[in-house]
This record gives sequence, C-alpha cells and structure tokens, in this order.
Amino acid sequence: MSNTGSTRPPIAIDGPAVSGKSSVGRSLASHIGYRFLDTGLMYRAATWNAIKNGVDVNDPAAVAQASESMDFSVSDGKTGDNQIVVNGEDVTKHLHAPMVDDSVSSVASVGRVREIMVAEQRRLASGGAIVMVGRDIGTVVIPKAPLKIYLTATVRTRANRRHREFIAEGTEIEFEDILRSMEQRDLIDSSRENSPLRPADDARVVDTDELSFEEVVNHLVELAKDVL
Ligand code: DC
Repeated sequence: MSNTGSTRPPIAIDGPAVSGKSSVGRSLASHIGYRFLDTGLMYRAATWNAIKNGVDVNDPAAVAQASESMDFSVSDGKTGDNQIVVNGEDVTKHLHAPMVDDSVSSVASVGRVREIMVAEQRRLASGGAIVMVGRDIGTVVIPKAPLKIYLTATVRTRANRRHREFIAEGTEIEFEDILRSMEQRDLIDSSRENSPLRPADDARVVDTDELSFEEVVNHLVELAKDVL
C-alpha cells in the first residue's frame, strides 16, 4: 500500500475479536472514500511466517528474530480487502486458518513484533484518508487521530456471530469451544504488557450488541462527518 499524502485525517477503530471492526471499518472506508487497513492481518502474517519457519511461537526471542527477517507488504485487494505478501508469496488466504488463530495472540504480545508493525502502520497512517482497525490504533499507533472508535459487544454475542460464520461456511464446531477460545483471546489481548486492548481515553465507545451492521456503519459515518 503506498503512502499517497493527504490532509484528510486517519480514523482509528479498535475493539475485541469479532466486534465487527473489520467489516464495519471496510464499509465506513468505502462510504467516505478512505483506504482501509486491517492491522490484525499484519500480526497474523508474522504468526504464519513463524509457523512456516518452524519457530516456537511461545519463544519471544525466536519470534522476534523471525519477524525481523520477514519481508512483507500490505496492499489494497480487488474487493477492498487487504492483501499481504510475505517473502514474495501472497499469504492472505492462510491468515484465518485455525492454526494462526490459536497462536496469533502470543505472537502479537512480543514487543519487538509490535515495534515492527507499529512503525509500518504509522508510515501508512501518515498519508491520511485511511480507516485503520486493530487493538491499539487509538492508544498507540495514531493517538492524535481526531476520531477514535472503540467497537464492543459481549463475549457471548461475539462467539455467536463467529459460530454463525463457521456454520455458514460449512465448518462444524461447538459453540462452547468458540466461546472458550474467544474468552482466552480477550484475556491475553487485554492483559498483555505491551499495548493491551483498551479504549483510548477520548474514544467514542460503540456497543454493537443491539445494533444491526447497517446501524453501526451509519452511526460511524455520522461521527466521521465531524472530522472530514
Ligand atoms: O483482529 P484480529 O483477530 O485479526 O487480530 C489478530 C490478533 O492480533 C489478535 O490476537 C490481536 C492482535 N492485534 C494486536 O495486538 N494489535 C492490533 N493492532 C491488531 C491485532
């Protein structure tokens, strides 16, 4: 993704897993003519790269070393999605594999991995006109962004949404297993030492439990109008 230079400010969206950040963020970006970056994919790419190279994902020094030697780039895909190329290979389709899901929280908790990703995210944000979604966008990556949104929903609602997605794609999985895995990820993401998940002090917190997708997007488009 190139840094095109713009005076339109970046917008930060943070929140826990399956709070709808990515789909809502992508839709917001397309409504307001912004680019879109799902920063979770960058941590997923570091995880995929570590696994592919036989690195123990629970060994922070080894994970850091693998991430330092990883050559990666993020670009806009044809459908508004991001594509990630690692060492010359488009790895996008591998990034939501259960194997990556299970290890990504550990990789994302390594300080050196975060430094590498945050530096690239700030470079991309400096061009403006981008909606960036993640866990620490408003608190760490672009704390000066004039609009920071924190999307949330209860863990049960989010596990239900994920369960429905798995069923829709024909994957059989127990709801209770999804719920447990999500609780575990929430715990790691919000209690880690490096950039834990939390709303920025001046974030607009949007609880999506009782809202439809369209209602959330419309609300965010209205909030964005104040900063465009
Ligand atoms: O949003 P996601 O599920 O694709 O995120 C994958 C993992 O990366 C998750 O464990 C949280 C972490 N992450 C992060 O620590 N900081 C970000 N800005 C984005 C994601």
